[in-house]
Amino acid sequence: MASEKFGSQSDEFGDFQTPGILAERVCTLLADTGYQPTSLLEPTCGVGNFLIAALDRFPLVNFGLGLDINEEYLQRVDERISAKSYDQKVKLLHENFFHVDWSHLLLKLTEPILVVGNPPWVTNSTLGSLGSANLPKKSNFQKLNGLEAITGKSNFDISEWMIVKLLELLNGRQAIVAMLCKTAVARKVLTHAWKNDFSISDSRIHPIDASEYFGAAVDACLLVCRLSRTGRNKNCGIYRDLGHSDVSSTFGYHDGLLISDIAAYERWKHLSGKEIYKWRSGVKHDCSKVMELRKEGERYRNGLDGLVELEDDYVFPMLKSSEITYGRSKTPTRWMLLTQKAVGDETSVIGIIAPKTWRYLLDQSHLLDRRASSIYRNRPRFSIFGVGDYTFAPWKVAISGFYKQWNFATVGPYEGKSVVLDDTSYFLACESEQEARFIAGLLNSSPAREFYSSFIFWDSKRPITIDTLSKLDLSLLSAELGCTAEFDRFRAQKRKNPSYRQTELF
Ligand SMILES: C[S@@+](CC[C@H](N)C(=O)[O-])C[C@H]1O[C@@H](n2cnc3c(N)ncnc32)[C@H](O)[C@@H]1O
Repeated sequence: MASEKFGSQSDEFGDFQTPGILAERVCTLLADTGYQPTSLLEPTCGVGNFLIAALDRFPLVNFGLGLDINEEYLQRVDERISAKSYDQKVKLLHENFFHVDWSHLLLKLTEPILVVGNPPWVTNSTLGSLGSANLPKKSNFQKLNGLEAITGKSNFDISEWMIVKLLELLNGRQAIVAMLCKTAVARKVLTHAWKNDFSISDSRIHPIDASEYFGAAVDACLLVCRLSRTGRNKNCGIYRDLGHSDVSSTFGYHDGLLISDIAAYERWKHLSGKEIYKWRSGVKHDCSKVMELRKEGERYRNGLDGLVELEDDYVFPMLKSSEITYGRSKTPTRWMLLTQKAVGDETSVIGIIAPKTWRYLLDQSHLLDRRASSIYRNRPRFSIFGVGDYTFAPWKVAISGFYKQWNFATVGPYEGKSVVLDDTSYFLACESEQEARFIAGLLNSSPAREFYSSFIFWDSKRPITIDTLSKLDLSLLSAELGCTAEFDRFRAQKRKNPSYRQTELF
């Protein structure tokens, strides 16, 4: 049974009411653990399905609080709890979560406490585009460890802020906080709580089928955090569903790192160390319609369907993330216009070296000059990012940050030019085919795969990041695989002759 949806308000207030059947399943799951709360809080209670399910399941609750920003919902809850004779022990407050004096309110709750609900499903950037003020106050976000750090992020989920706030307030008390949210939000909440040593004694994630219950295509879960006076458990079990079946995996916070698979991390953590080869990301230009081209005879077709003539000097064969992932890296089908060979290079020189290219850039300046990202401000006109010697390395070992496939591909030159990558891929620059094949062999080995798998959350938007890639020490890995001598030989050559610095163009 899918959630009720509430018109245009559903965007601003992240309003997806939990179907009664799901609220009942969640409360049954919590009750089956033997937990017996005496007080109850539903911080954004909507029409009250969680309030009622919890009151039905937990007979020892003698005081319950329900809040919502929507007064009509509270009237409905009022009728429903009166019909069940729960009205004597439940207080309903028409309040905005962000304006509530929570410290004062939570003093009214006797322990053990149960906080259960489903906070709004909306991000601050969506609210920004709706012109909505349904947000926490933005405060000093230099103080990067607190809730302020969340409001300082360019995009955060309102529910992340709300759940962290509740955990912070209940830190040191006997409580269970059980919330439906996106799985990525659950992970961020836990990471925040673990980093800040909140007194969590147990945490669990139970995946739910959001398309079935909410008609939403998103990875969602029930996050359950049990707080106690002294709890310091930094592992979270991931269950298969809303049952108590075996834990399918465990993630946690160890050695200052968020680990997706504790068992794999314990087995391979001796491979973490220095970043010997530097991981780079591909070129960022934020204007693929102008900068990415297909060759037609001697000319190039851009993404606006224009056919243009360009000098060779600034055009390079390129590969998209998908081509790297699916092994189509031998014959590039696109070309990229690179206006600089290093970040900040003067671009007006293009007008002298390659007048047709400069004309093309001027013709498309209405798009290029309007690129939204602030990184282009106060930079030479038509600037790009993610360029340097490494961009022009003849060989690369590359992987896509987007795809859920673990495959490091070797990328070699094409038609005498270095092949460049877009900013959704990461790579190591190599001088020769032998070096690239050797490094790709190391990275595709089982120990490397298992090492990396201990840090990767495949349900993330960009599961593979430079931060993760750079955790593996290639010299320790080559020792593990018994090929230190070969690794050292390539390193020595690299030190002597960094040929990829001699870019063949410009
Ligand atoms: C995802 S719905 C869930 C409702 C209810 N918890 C349930 O599980 O059915 C989110 C609820 O949050 C309420 N809400 C949104 N912003 C709020 C705010 N700033 N303060 C209090 N309630 C808010 C909405 O009115 C809506 O009822």
